[in-house]
Amino acid sequence: MSLEDRVRTEVLGMLRPKHGGDVWGRLEVKDFSSNVNPLGPPERLNEYIVEAARDMINYPDDRCKELKEAISQRYGLPAANIVVGAGSAELIRLFPEVFVRPGDKVIMPRPTFSEYGFACQLMGAKFMDVPLPEDDGFYPEISTLIDAMSPGTKAIYVCNPNNPTARMLTRKEVMEVVKEAARRDIMVFLDETLLELSERERDVTCVGEVAANDNMFIIRSFTKSFAMPGLRVGYGFGSKDVVRYMDAARLSWNLGTIEQRVATKLMINEQEHVRSAVRLLLDEKQRMRDGISHILKRRIPLPDSYFFFHPLRSLGVTSPKFKDMMLNHNVLVRDCSSFGPPGQSYSRFCVKTRESDDEFLEAMKATVEELHSGR
Ligand SMILES: Cc1ncc(COP(=O)(O)O)c(C=O)c1O
Repeated sequence: MSLEDRVRTEVLGMLRPKHGGDVWGRLEVKDFSSNVNPLGPPERLNEYIVEAARDMINYPDDRCKELKEAISQRYGLPAANIVVGAGSAELIRLFPEVFVRPGDKVIMPRPTFSEYGFACQLMGAKFMDVPLPEDDGFYPEISTLIDAMSPGTKAIYVCNPNNPTARMLTRKEVMEVVKEAARRDIMVFLDETLLELSERERDVTCVGEVAANDNMFIIRSFTKSFAMPGLRVGYGFGSKDVVRYMDAARLSWNLGTIEQRVATKLMINEQEHVRSAVRLLLDEKQRMRDGISHILKRRIPLPDSYFFFHPLRSLGVTSPKFKDMMLNHNVLVRDCSSFGPPGQSYSRFCVKTRESDDEFLEAMKATVEELHSGR
């Protein structure tokens, strides 16, 4: 028997999901490819890390009690509704491990964040892809999502706002999906990690709905709000029953002591840092839109989130080529080809601080000029 015969069918031919943020070792490059807090981490992050690192001799608290209490305080939900993970990525993996059996159908609006598909593929799910309508600026039609629900469907994925399209549904729209899914025994996986830095967060979040709806699970993360992808801390909300099963199946000691203690401090002490970023992004998003519109000599639409999913067809350039050209000006944008069609014709880049955004606009202006002059 060859090794291939012994490997699970789902794993054969599996490819690692692609992500932005590949700036390692290139300090001169400004990273616009990953959507994190433009202010960077709070000033006291290092202090928190050093303090937490004093106690490495003991195993971490497997229940993550203090961190869950801090999250509970911030969101006004009992700790029994909260599960924590090594990044929300761990919870993305855990969800199908708990709920998806081989052959179950999962509804996947596309393009969207690749980790959902990766985790579902591993569990042997069948994909029901729902292409997001490009002509309508990628706003999902709620009726289309509901129409995709058919016998054998186990889960539907909703990323709000969606990565990479930057489109946001209202709470009413998301709950319409949740209610209809409940009638058909379908789980809703809702990713709110990109909502935390939005000025509409309070109006749009569905966290307050989880206790009463046991067919939904919501993820959040420290990565974006506190600009710390290097420390892996995410969390999720569900009904007590949903959380009980998720918690039963998760990896033991999934969060190290440093992660737990630092995240607890951030949740309690550093909310103002997140609020400052929200205010900054709101202004900068408009300025960036105006700047890009000026360069392209046409008005471009404002994204619902703090990153742009920008069409490249009129510039006659592909996503990887645009990335390379921008890199020549020390700006990293996200090559969107890995999101599948029509990602090849789009670039994703985030909004940062005024100074960085000016550098971005300079790089974009130079790149567009090069494209126009055929260089
Ligand atoms: C939409 C979305 N959800 C979840 C994640 C995972 O983030 P983390 O594991 O750092 O919490 C990402 C990371 O890029 C993302 O873009």
